[in-house]
Amino acid sequence: MPTSKSSLIHLNNAHFKNVETLFLKSLELKRNFKNKNELPKKKNTAALLFFESSTRTRFSFESAAFRAGYLPLVLDSGVGTSLEKGESTEDTIYNIAAMSPSFIVIRCGHQVDLESISEKLSIPVLNAGWGMKGHPTQALLDALTIYEKLGSLSGKKVLFIGDIKHSRVVASHFELSKVLNYEIRFCTPIEFSVTGYTQFSDLEEAVAWADVIIALRVQKERHEGVGFDQKKYSLGYCLGLKHLKTFSKNGLVMHPGPINYGIDIEQDVLKDPRCAILEQVTNGVFLREALIRSLGEGI
Ligand code: NCD
Repeated sequence: MPTSKSSLIHLNNAHFKNVETLFLKSLELKRNFKNKNELPKKKNTAALLFFESSTRTRFSFESAAFRAGYLPLVLDSGVGTSLEKGESTEDTIYNIAAMSPSFIVIRCGHQVDLESISEKLSIPVLNAGWGMKGHPTQALLDALTIYEKLGSLSGKKVLFIGDIKHSRVVASHFELSKVLNYEIRFCTPIEFSVTGYTQFSDLEEAVAWADVIIALRVQKERHEGVGFDQKKYSLGYCLGLKHLKTFSKNGLVMHPGPINYGIDIEQDVLKDPRCAILEQVTNGVFLREALIRSLGEGI
């Protein structure tokens, strides 16, 4: 029986070997994925609690839990629940945990103390996006896609374009890059940058440096008093086919989604053979299925 010890809240204590084992399991599941409509015998339930909106991550965890043999029970943004009567997020989580699901997947804001909740619960808690603090399974599925397409992550040059400062995806990549030894640089305006990493101001120069480009959505909902001039931003940082002329032939263009076309990237970038955005989504399910199947083994 997996315990809270197999929770995944951060990636800073992850081990290289465990992450690699997870990638190998994910790719094995992908290779063997033929029987799409087979209904696995259910072992138990999995509680998927999404207190913030989600499309990919929610469906991905739902599909992964289902394929791994768990019946996913989903709380979707709290509509129709006692949150509307003033019940706290924490009480909601503890009450659902009291119904004994095998594990809980949580997406919530930064004001919820996910770490202390996972310490109090005896079942695993998987972070599906926690405020701006982190989104470990997104970083892992990004890395899995790089691993699958380009081999080892070690020494790879990963360029993030966009709203670095408010991105929980980048927060998890900071942690994972230390485990898997890839280099991170940014191309972002000053109001979205963080210190400690090399930064490009010119998009073409940045693209020419990278093995992998990860474009990000501007996180308007997390801006507190940051002025954002969309037109000016798009002119400097919206990735288009014209920028990809100097990009490595074997490079990868990725985005965690959702995409705001014309702001983060131009729609025609999707036609470039180096674009792996939907592959990330496909891989996300296998990565999460592998993670769920290995609960109890740790990462
Ligand atoms: C990201 C998220 O929610 O943090 N998306 C995702 O989970 N696929 C990125 C975003 O919202 O921009």
